[in-house]
Amino acid sequence: MGVLTPATPSSSDAFVLRTPSGAEAATRLRHERPQKRISGTVEVKNDFAARSSGDGPLNGRGMTVSFVGLGYVGLCTAVAFADRGFDTLGVDVDPERLALVEVGRAPIHEPGLERLLKKAVLSGRLHVSDDLADVAQTDVIFLTVGTPSRFDGSIDTSHVERASREVGAALRSERDMRLVVVKSTVVPGTTRSVVKPLLEESSGKHVGVELGLCTNPEFLKEGSAIEDTFHPDKLVIGGIDGGSVDRLKRLYRAFYGEEMPPTIETTPETAEMIKYASNAFLATKVSYINTIANIAQLVPGLDVEQVASAIGLDPRIGPLFLRAGPGYGGSCFPKDVRALIAFSRERGYDPGLLAAVEKANERQASKVVELSEKLVGSLEDKRVAVLGLAFKKDTDDVREAASIRVIHRLQDKGARVTAYDPMAIPSARRVLGTAVEFAADPKSAIDKADCCIIMTEWDEFRCLKGKDFAERMRKPNVVDARRLYQRDELEGVNVLAIGMGRSSSVQEHPAPDAKVLA
Ligand SMILES: NC(=O)c1ccc[n+]([C@@H]2O[C@H](COP(=O)([O-])OP(=O)(O)OC[C@H]3O[C@@H](n4cnc5c(N)ncnc54)[C@H](O)[C@@H]3O)[C@@H](O)[C@H]2O)c1
Repeated sequence: MGVLTPATPSSSDAFVLRTPSGAEAATRLRHERPQKRISGTVEVKNDFAARSSGDGPLNGRGMTVSFVGLGYVGLCTAVAFADRGFDTLGVDVDPERLALVEVGRAPIHEPGLERLLKKAVLSGRLHVSDDLADVAQTDVIFLTVGTPSRFDGSIDTSHVERASREVGAALRSERDMRLVVVKSTVVPGTTRSVVKPLLEESSGKHVGVELGLCTNPEFLKEGSAIEDTFHPDKLVIGGIDGGSVDRLKRLYRAFYGEEMPPTIETTPETAEMIKYASNAFLATKVSYINTIANIAQLVPGLDVEQVASAIGLDPRIGPLFLRAGPGYGGSCFPKDVRALIAFSRERGYDPGLLAAVEKANERQASKVVELSEKLVGSLEDKRVAVLGLAFKKDTDDVREAASIRVIHRLQDKGARVTAYDPMAIPSARRVLGTAVEFAADPKSAIDKADCCIIMTEWDEFRCLKGKDFAERMRKPNVVDARRLYQRDELEGVNVLAIGMGRSSSVQEHPAPDAKVLA
């Protein structure tokens, strides 16, 4: 994280953001902001205002777009629009994030993001603002704020509500029609019964008459967010009125040209449910193959990987999302499965299948810890190297990552943890604090360790060979929770992999408290 310090001893309201690499960008603290801030110059604003024609040009090409919330979804989509030549505005409440984006530095790790961001800023196609009122200068306003979990698993819509209210207020005095698009993941009914009334009340306009509203859930994957934005498998548009749907399709036709993805036009409720059904199904596949893996583990000679590739040949099953591992994580699957369960229970139906998916996922972390106990016995005072913290490779996101669950369980059992990740150490440090030692590279992470657990499938970890584990570790015990290595790659190493049946060459200890998994 950067720290905000006064730019000069004499200036009290201008602050300089010092980022970890020393780059500096001037920004103002929001509560001290004496005037609206928008990147670029006054001409920039005029440019937006001049281009914006409310209903948008008929071919969609000249439409201007804005994104409220510059996280994984908002920022990646904004740079993609800027790259395709659209004048794009990004708004966020986080001054540090804005200061980085404004100078073309990505606040998150996504392959290809920083290159496109720099290009977008340099070309003048992407501007940022900390004032949500500026979205009034754009034709289409995407809401891309977060929808985190509440304690009971239901989603917290407070960011969506605040954004809706502020967008509505910003549009109050605008005469031209604007289109608001809910891209955040929200449970069925939210667009119609939460966003619409807030927009109407704060704008004084009627949705479908003077103001457009659609829901358009996002399906991009972290780690390939840019690629997914340019090449999605589908677009889902839920509209209250036909005019809004047509306008959004016009924008997307201008964006995708000949490569317009298959588009599902439906009600907002169905669109919202498609997103949850999609993520819940993928989470179910993960928990399903992990359950099969745990059974496979008990049978000498059985390997879940071959089981998965064989069943994946059946077109009714398909090959994807059948990799056994430490359980799903990230900002979407856990929260979306929980939200769907809570949503369903609130309406009187207990979705037992989804509850079992979630429970199996939670227990998978204990399964990983159990494998390390089989290799080293009691974990009390043992040094465990955890390789990989991000919930999957090619991202720095550790939200609900299996690595965090595993590390907490290791610590509960008295282990001393050293961790390494090529990208996610800063975000993991915020969650794990000082109780975990962070290593500078994979080799130093495994130095003198009693056990190494591979938690993320980063390609970088493939540089470790059997002899590295044998020479550097106190004992070469490896739990391959991602099935990163082939059996013969780690000769001389005591390896247990998720879903790999017992092998006579592995020295196992009886698990000290096997009841964890009972
Ligand atoms: N991350 C993913 O892979 C992914 C994929 C598909 C859908 N989604 C959904 O998209 C939504 C956004 O997800 P994300 O991962 O990009 O979130 P995020 O947490 O990374 O980013 C949200 C951003 O919104 C900003 N914000 C919050 N309130 C604001 C406000 N009132 N005005 C302006 N900015 C505000 C925050 O500062 C933050 O930068 C969520 O509903 C999520 O479930 C996420």
